[in-house]
Amino acid sequence: MSYRHFQIVLVLIAMAVANPATGKGGDLDHANTNVHDKAALQRGASLFVNYCMGCHSVQFMRYQRLADDLGLTEEQVEEFLIMGDGEAGDYMLTAMDASDAEDWFGVTPPDLSLTARSRGSDWIYSFLRGYYLTDDGWNNTVLENPAMPHVLWDLQGIQRAVTETYTDDEGQERTRVVSLELDQEGRMSPRDFDKAMLDLTTFMEYVAEPAALQRERLGIWVLLFLGLLTFLAYLLYKEYWKDVK
Ligand code: HEC
Repeated sequence: MSYRHFQIVLVLIAMAVANPATGKGGDLDHANTNVHDKAALQRGASLFVNYCMGCHSVQFMRYQRLADDLGLTEEQVEEFLIMGDGEAGDYMLTAMDASDAEDWFGVTPPDLSLTARSRGSDWIYSFLRGYYLTDDGWNNTVLENPAMPHVLWDLQGIQRAVTETYTDDEGQERTRVVSLELDQEGRMSPRDFDKAMLDLTTFMEYVAEPAALQRERLGIWVLLFLGLLTFLAYLLYKEYWKDVK
């Protein structure tokens, strides 16, 4: 393998290691997540168990794994994250009965283990911030007429939609949401709420791929190793050609 080949391999590896963005573009707001931010993950985990696990599970995640990855002691996990009489070895399952949930919401709240992969972080971040109140109840800019109520309204406050009318391709008059404005303040300022939703999104991204924490750490070593190899190959190359030129 020549020096040039090594360079190409290096670039390829670098591209594979740099995590491709999961966002799906469109009108979504960009969630600038960083799964290596342990403090953000801890805050996100706390929000998740307090506000989401009443209905949703993350069935592939154990509390113990969370403790290890987030740098929490077992006592901290038991005190802050495990509701009721669960144990560290348990999977993070909701206490809600699936058929009750179906009666109440019309659908069973989906397991959220892989949602950050299927929907993307930008989608989740926009969804959590996109609730607004109409005369018919809650709606959402990202998921129209969601079966999920706005469970964080006391934190965010109540948003209303600013709409405009337009004529569609078939000549029909329709309305669309242009922006959302805060009608009634919540316990958090809009800025703090956005930050909290970023933490929650970060947590969901981590849950969808816990191994990313280790893999990326390994990736750095792979790069360093390849860098060293490239350097040695280069020296060898110079050595070989020294007498020829
Ligand atoms: C009161 C029960 C309930 C609570 C609490 C709840 N959800 Fe939901 N959630 C639902 C239901 C029901 C759906 C299905 C919505 C639909 O399909 O219209 C849903 C859907 C979702 C989805 C969309 C999944 C997908 O791919 O379609 C996400 C993301 C989500 N919830 C995140 C959260 C987060 C984060 C929290 C905590 C802040 C939370 N939920 C709290 C009931 C709940």
